[in-house]
Amino acid sequence: MIQTGTTEDCLMRSENYPGAELAGRISSDTIIRRDEPLSKRTTLRVGGPADLYIEPASEEDLAIVAGFCAEHKVPVFVLGRGSNVLVKDGGFRGVAICLAQPCFSRIEIAGEHLHCGAGAKLKTVAAEASRHELTELEFLEGIPGSVGGALRMNAGAMGGAIYDVVDSVRMMDWSGRVQERSAGEMNTGYRSCAMLKTHIALSAVFRGRRGKREEIERRMKEFSRKRWESQPAAPSAGCIFKNPGQVPAGKLIDELGLKGTRVGGAYVSAEHGNFLVNDGTATAQDVLELIGTIQRRVLLERGIKLETEVEIVGE
Ligand code: EPU
Repeated sequence: MIQTGTTEDCLMRSENYPGAELAGRISSDTIIRRDEPLSKRTTLRVGGPADLYIEPASEEDLAIVAGFCAEHKVPVFVLGRGSNVLVKDGGFRGVAICLAQPCFSRIEIAGEHLHCGAGAKLKTVAAEASRHELTELEFLEGIPGSVGGALRMNAGAMGGAIYDVVDSVRMMDWSGRVQERSAGEMNTGYRSCAMLKTHIALSAVFRGRRGKREEIERRMKEFSRKRWESQPAAPSAGCIFKNPGQVPAGKLIDELGLKGTRVGGAYVSAEHGNFLVNDGTATAQDVLELIGTIQRRVLLERGIKLETEVEIVGE
């Protein structure tokens, strides 16, 4: 769909721009926008625009976009719900693909399994599991992202990790070829999944177990309460650092008295040391400088190298 407005008009008029050629190859239901601000599509709410932003309307269109980017060597990244991404202020010189159209967000129940599109929210997966009296997926309630993003990051919360409850993943490579792999074949590590560095997740089969609705609801409420008690509600990218082996990053930052440390509009949350919060005026540069300040202090005082958990993209 080439929507009305300057961006799309511009895309169609500027025939030399690669987007114009791409628009001619895909269905009219696929959304393409030029110079799309990514700050409004990430939970941290910072960062510049993507040259092209595309929401494919089908797997066929996604395959065309993937093939086009590979053929033209255009940098690409797949944006989920933007809860674990830090886009730099200069934006992204390439294509941001987002599986936000309904065809990628379906959730279908089959016995004790849930077939979930990559664009579905984890919160919705948890709610659907609960509605169908399936337990062991309650912890997904607290992960503020999409199925695709969580698969890519091997996200976890409340002692659970996503691949503990996933049977298989359908994914597409950059030539548009689709394949399905078992969770064991996804080559996962702490907050990483090697397979999804070279493939786009399309959907996953989650495995629940018959449970009692009241018990499931009680667990979900308990997880939600714990989260609200220990994590800030203000805009952030969740935990900014991976937990180093020795001690949780948030505890470490707290112990060093770094809560409240500020660079411009970004500061360390008072609720949780591993959350950097945007007060509404932060730039990506503020956040990056704050990350650097924390990393230097932690290295100097504890000899620990903190690595970022968020994906940093752009220039
Ligand atoms: N702690 C402090 N001070 C702080 C923060 C934490 O002393 O400012 C202590 C806590 O009291 C607790 C320990 O550190 O004893 C661990 O804290 P928490 O239970 O909050 O867990 P975490 O390891 O900091 C992880 C995930 C979170 C997830 C929570 C809840 C990582 C990097 N983070 O945090 O995931 O929500 O567990 O299960 O693994 C995310 O990945 O973006 C994220 C938010």
